[in-house]
Amino acid sequence: MRFAVVACVLALSTVTFALDNGLMRTPPMGWLAWERFRCDIDCEHDPKNCISENLFIDMADRLAEDGWRELGYVYVNIDDCWASMERDTQGRLQSDPKRFPGGIRKLARYMHDRGLKLGIYGDMGTHTCGGYPGTPLDKIEIDAQTFADWEVDMFKFDGCYSNATEQEQGYPLMSKALNATGRPIGYSCSWPAYQGGLPPKVNYTQLGEICNLWRNYGDIQDSWDSVLYIADWFFANQDVLIPAAAPGQWNDPDMLIIGNFGLSMDQSRAQMALWAIMAAPLFMSNDLRTISSGARVILQNKMAISINQDPLGIQGRRIVKEKSGIEVYWRPLSNNASALVFFSRRNDMPYRYQTSLSKLNYTTGSYKIYDVFNDKGSTLKDSTDFVVSVNPTGVVMWHVSAPAKLGQRQFYGGGKLQGPTYHHHDNAIPPSFL
Ligand SMILES: *[C@@H]1O[C@H](CO)[C@@H](O)[C@H](O)[C@H]1NC(C)=O
Ligand SMILES: *[C@@H]1O[C@H](CO)[C@@H](O)[C@H](O)[C@H]1NC(C)=O
Ligand SMILES: *[C@@H]1O[C@H](CO)[C@@H](O)[C@H](O)[C@H]1NC(C)=O
Ligand SMILES: *[C@@H]1O[C@H](CO)[C@@H](O)[C@H](O)[C@H]1NC(C)=O
Ligand SMILES: *[C@@H]1O[C@H](CO)[C@@H](O)[C@H](O)[C@H]1NC(C)=O
Repeated sequence: MRFAVVACVLALSTVTFALDNGLMRTPPMGWLAWERFRCDIDCEHDPKNCISENLFIDMADRLAEDGWRELGYVYVNIDDCWASMERDTQGRLQSDPKRFPGGIRKLARYMHDRGLKLGIYGDMGTHTCGGYPGTPLDKIEIDAQTFADWEVDMFKFDGCYSNATEQEQGYPLMSKALNATGRPIGYSCSWPAYQGGLPPKVNYTQLGEICNLWRNYGDIQDSWDSVLYIADWFFANQDVLIPAAAPGQWNDPDMLIIGNFGLSMDQSRAQMALWAIMAAPLFMSNDLRTISSGARVILQNKMAISINQDPLGIQGRRIVKEKSGIEVYWRPLSNNASALVFFSRRNDMPYRYQTSLSKLNYTTGSYKIYDVFNDKGSTLKDSTDFVVSVNPTGVVMWHVSAPAKLGQRQFYGGGKLQGPTYHHHDNAIPPSFL
């Protein structure tokens, strides 16, 4: 039974040790430059989109003024191509003086003044992937200290231009060096992505001890194929990945591309739903200045976000894979609630999928169901067959409340004893959603 599984996962998670910086007890949320803006440094011809302090200030203003920050999207993260090609006379990294005239510390303060946080990027190796100065082993301490001096809040450590032996030394060393600065800095490790993402080359126990999140797999691109490719890899390897995730330590399937050019609205809901099931970090990489209202509504869906941010931090799994192309995903949530996603891989038309909660192993009576993207509630008995209509490459996502508990009082209708009542408050939709 499901709840036995939950209890067992909880018992196990008490004996794992997360990175002890107190950060990211739920998956981090914010905005990250890479997928949408890449290494555009042509500020002369493309001033609005080039990697410059103006871009990060623009995104910070949008996060603070358009309702994102209040929903949890607080990180503004710089990716590659921010640095000057030369270290300074004291051997420290420095930002490109033309594109970041105010410097990184000033940018960090701009974020902090608005209740936001700043993330920055580096690379365990001789060069970053884009050819900027890297952080080889002998530069790890000085670079960690530089980021702390700049009051940076998060650091992504990429892995181009280093080999497995160097990475094995460098990623733990950076974790120590960040800790030694005394500044809590969220630590994102690209290490497993460079080692195939799976044991025995990747040791997820160790990653959980040294990093807050880690990129397991390849970079996301602006296409549905890319989203599907990544999701398929994560769920094909779910038995390895699920135990690695817990508060403070997350698998990272990469950025949300919702609001760009590659996804339909149905596919956008699918990415949001699957990333919520995976307890994935929610870093949008899009242009918040011009985002469509349709994409905004999906990214700002409170129930999808609160499923993603569930405090138990248990990563969900695929539980059904039908020949018809329908799949069902499930994630246990706190207070005995859970989330279900019905996903269609089909390309023809909305598919009417028939099942029942008991077929999905819900066997303790009646449940309150809330349809995340349609804002509709209902009550469903475990044994009752139901039909969900799932659009091609789309999802239906449900929040399923705790099973109703039987009350003491008997319910009278029309003068006749009808049966026991339910304690409504025990299986209500959490008020935070409404
Ligand atoms: C550094 O590590 C120690 C011991 O694990 C922990 O107590 C402390 O909070 C950490 N400090 C920072 C800034 O991460
Ligand atoms: C990794 O790189 C280092 C430094 O360049 C080199 O000394 C070492 O032999 C390399 N190791 C492997 C396994 O390639
Ligand atoms: C993985 O890392 C953990 C913690 O650092 C360590 O105890 C364990 O021996 C490692 N496992 C393997 C197979 O190397
Ligand atoms: C969850 O369900 C289990 C088994 O039905 C029950 O023992 C436990 O008290 C419930 N926990 C909460 C928080 O409702
Ligand atoms: C239901 O539980 C059984 C027994 O644990 C398991 O074999 C089966 O795969 C589960 N079915 C679903 C849909 O999760």
